[in-house]
Amino acid sequence: MRLARQISMVASLAAVALLAGCRQDMHNQPKFIPQRGTTFYADGRSVRPQVENTVARGQLHEDEYFYTGLVAGKEGDMMPFPVTMQVLERGQERFNIYCAPCHSRVGNGQGMIVQRGYKVAANFHDAKRMAQPIGHYFNVMSHGYGSMPDYAAQVPVVDRWAIAAYIRALQLSQAAQASDVPAGQHVEKLSDIATDEGLPASFAGEWTLPATALSEMMNGSAAGAGSSTPVGPTMPKESTSNRATGKTGSGNAGQAVPPPASVPPSRQ
Ligand code: HEC
Repeated sequence: MRLARQISMVASLAAVALLAGCRQDMHNQPKFIPQRGTTFYADGRSVRPQVENTVARGQLHEDEYFYTGLVAGKEGDMMPFPVTMQVLERGQERFNIYCAPCHSRVGNGQGMIVQRGYKVAANFHDAKRMAQPIGHYFNVMSHGYGSMPDYAAQVPVVDRWAIAAYIRALQLSQAAQASDVPAGQHVEKLSDIATDEGLPASFAGEWTLPATALSEMMNGSAAGAGSSTPVGPTMPKESTSNRATGKTGSGNAGQAVPPPASVPPSRQ
C-alpha cells in the first residue's frame, strides 16, 4: 500500500517535470514579439508595414453620398436609395424612438423633453426646415446641430436616411395639396377632420410652447408664466458659430439645464 503510494507520487512528479519541459520547448520556439526587432526581415521590423491602399474590413465607403449626404461639399437633396413603404415604416419607427422625445411625433419641436425644460427642438414644418435639402437631416443626425447632440452612435447610416425620408413624409402630411395624391383620392384638412370628429378647434392648431421650455426663458418672458407663445416666430435664434460643438449660444449661459455632451462620431 505504502509502496503503491510512493510509486504514484514519483510518477506524478515525473509527469509534472515532463510537462514543464514541454512548455519550455513551446515557449522557446522562434516567433515575433510585438514591438521587438527581428533578424528575419531585412528592415529589422517584426511589425510589418501596411500594404498601401489597404482598407479595413467594413470601412470601404465607396458610396460617398450615402455616408456623408454631401455632393462636392454641399448637402444634397436626394435619397441615396429608393424610398419604399418599408423604408418609410423603418424611418417612422426610428424617428419615434430617437427624435420624437424632443421633436414630438408630429415633428413640431415640442416633445416631452422640451416640455420638461430642454431647448425647443426644430419645428420641421416651418418654412426654413421645409426648404432644407434632405442631406441636411442626414448631416444633423450625423454631426449634431447647435444644442442637439449627434445620433451617429445610436442610428446607423441606413437608418439615418430612413428617418430623413420619414421627416419629408411628415412635412408632406401637414402641407399636402390635392395635386400630391393620385387622382380620385382626396386630401382632408386636419381642422376639417377635427370638426367632423367633434374635437375642439385647438386640436389642429399650433401647440402652445410649454412654459418650461428653454427658449421661452431665453426670450426674456417669465419662466413658468404659462403664456401661449406659438411656435414658429419665437423659435430660438440659431447659433451658426458653434454648430456641432454641443454648446448653445452665449444667451444660454448659466441656464439650469445644460446641453448634453456630444456622443463620439461612429466609425460607420
Ligand atoms: C435631446 C433632444 C433632441 C433629440 C432627441 C433630437 N433633436 Fe433634433 N434638435 C434638438 C434641438 C434642441 C434643436 C435645435 C438646435 C439649435 O438650434 O441649437 C434640434 C434641431 C434639429 C434640426 C434642425 C437643424 C436646423 O437646420 O435648424 C434637425 C433637422 C433635427 N434636429 C433633426 C433631428 C433628428 C432627425 C433626430 C432623431 C435622430 C433628432 N433631431 C433628435 C433636439 C433634439
